[in-house]
Amino acid sequence: MTLTTLTRRGLIAAGAAALALTGLPALAQEPIVIKFSHVVAPNTPKGKGAEKFKELAEQYTNGRVKVEIYPNSQLYKDKEELEALQLGSVQMLAPSLAKFGPLGVSAFEVFDLPYIFKDTAALRKVTEGEVGEKMLALLEPKGIKGLAYWDNGFKIMTANRPMIMPDDFLGLKMRIQSSKVLEAQFAALGAVPQVMAFSEVYQAMQTGVVDGSENTPSNVYTQKMHEVQKHATHSNHGYIGYAVIVNKAFWDGLPEDIRAELDKAMDEATTYANGVSEADNAAALQAIRDAGTTEIHEQTEAERAAWVEALQPVYQQMESRIGKDTIDMVRAAAQ
Ligand code: LMR
Repeated sequence: MTLTTLTRRGLIAAGAAALALTGLPALAQEPIVIKFSHVVAPNTPKGKGAEKFKELAEQYTNGRVKVEIYPNSQLYKDKEELEALQLGSVQMLAPSLAKFGPLGVSAFEVFDLPYIFKDTAALRKVTEGEVGEKMLALLEPKGIKGLAYWDNGFKIMTANRPMIMPDDFLGLKMRIQSSKVLEAQFAALGAVPQVMAFSEVYQAMQTGVVDGSENTPSNVYTQKMHEVQKHATHSNHGYIGYAVIVNKAFWDGLPEDIRAELDKAMDEATTYANGVSEADNAAALQAIRDAGTTEIHEQTEAERAAWVEALQPVYQQMESRIGKDTIDMVRAAAQ
């Protein structure tokens, strides 16, 4: 044995002793990082829900978990973020339920059917019950675990001309999320639907690539779409909500005690996010009105009835895509 080997051994032994006294626990305490990517502004129901989850998750785990939020498509756009989650480049997302079709889970498009929920209470019966749970389970074979449903709210239509009766949509180029139900909805109105990432909508409206779109007041206002849309119809014809999802391998690999704290943080963040969504959207609609750039039409009962009738064929058309059993199950639960 050479002197150098002996010296090296001595050094290793001394180092190990020092670590045992001071360093080892510190090494084990490197925080677990959850990258939470989303496409909307921080001051939206989803943005606020993400902030609340971060605050509670870090608090309940005493800093053993660190949540990094990347809003406004800063990291990934609509379709890319789902791929990034599956690859493990990010750990948590909350995509709109209208965006799971390209992943091969088209059942979530049931949430896009026009007029399927008469109000938030009807929706809750689905998302907070067995049906909602069953639907989240459809994500597991894709390596994704669904943790919760978060609300945004009911949609308005926006464009550069008034949209009073179904005929008014004839030939309008309307941006949609990547949902076949939304495609069928606009086709039924005689419009030309165009799938586009959320981050590209403002510019597409500004440059005339699209004439209009549908979204919640909160999304319209925080993306400044109202500045480039002269007309809106307060129609509440459909719903936008989110599935909060995580990379399943990451989630299953977490220490059990940590996962329990994160579940608790998610439950509370869900209650919080779903508690602010309605007021946020009402405030955003008022803010759009106050900005004075967009004329908001309040739909009458007769106009609504005409829209309902024009959009009725969408149910039949989408039956084979979503599954008749899923549509029936959701409708029954929403009663
Ligand atoms: C959209 O793409 O229109 C929205 O659903 C974005 C979002 O996440 O609310």
